[in-house]
Amino acid sequence: MNVPHFMLKEIHQQPDVIRHQLDRTISIGIPDRINILACGTSLNAGLIGQFLFEQIAQIPTQVRSSSESLSAPLLETPNTITIAITQSGETADTIAALQQVQSKRVAITNGIDSTITRFADHTIYTNAGEEKSVAATKTFTSQIVLFYKLAFQIAHENQKLSDREFASHLESLKQIPQQMEKLLNENTIVELAQTLKETRDLIILGSGINTAIALEGALKLKEATYTHAEGYAAGEFLHGPIALLDAEIPTLAIVTEDDSRIQKTIDRIRAHGNHVIEITAKSVPELFSPFLAVVALQLLAYHLATLRGIDVDRPRNIAKSLTT
Ligand code: F6R
Repeated sequence: MNVPHFMLKEIHQQPDVIRHQLDRTISIGIPDRINILACGTSLNAGLIGQFLFEQIAQIPTQVRSSSESLSAPLLETPNTITIAITQSGETADTIAALQQVQSKRVAITNGIDSTITRFADHTIYTNAGEEKSVAATKTFTSQIVLFYKLAFQIAHENQKLSDREFASHLESLKQIPQQMEKLLNENTIVELAQTLKETRDLIILGSGINTAIALEGALKLKEATYTHAEGYAAGEFLHGPIALLDAEIPTLAIVTEDDSRIQKTIDRIRAHGNHVIEITAKSVPELFSPFLAVVALQLLAYHLATLRGIDVDRPRNIAKSLTT
């Protein structure tokens, strides 16, 4: 594909990145607790992992930023599995955080033979291919697809998912690349970027599993477009932050097929005369909607950045990974 920037190329590679993971069977056993350590976009992927491990596999799961865990380590039981998730495998804080851990250590990384693998008992590669743009896109998708597969596998092994449910979830995952391709071929996000060209502050709301996508979308918009974007859980937004809104601050809301929870917040925002733009991901079951919602927000970040003349593959002040 002939595209002007690595970020756009990598966004478009995501359907294939998922396809490559579909036939893998990954098993880490059945722990009584899972701890996840990560930074930045990988931390947001970790929040998706937490949701899936708890809601699908029913394993208590904690996520902590690697740097925070250095001073406040997560509690471990004898049968805890700690997952360090890092695209590069070279993030200093995540490597240091994993080294502190006593329990079984699993590294999830895209960096073949990267430093993190030396401190892990077991490494799972995300196989997304090299990611050149500083803003992580396809590596995020490759991380979350692994979390879906791991959570489904654990849930099947510990009988929280029946054979039929397990097969049906895997089948839903198989539909995602095609749905993503449809979204990638639409022009609506370019039009949305044009309407947001002058916007300096933006709120992104999600609910349930998409709260992590609201955070990830806000991170993409901050780093690629220098917009002050904040992600919130929709219900929580009503408890104070809604006071921020005025005519200058639009809200993006991730709306899924089960939109009752977020709808209440959208209605309240509109009742105050403020503007809500709905990002709809209704063509797949809510559980799988993060794959579409995140692509929409990645595309928005990309197009907004290029409209603003930002060197999107190399935004100011940041490096691809913090190795010191
Ligand atoms: C965001 C981004 C950073 C990284 C973070 C962790 O687009 O690229 O937030 O996600 O620095 O990097 P890894 O995953 O290599 O540990």
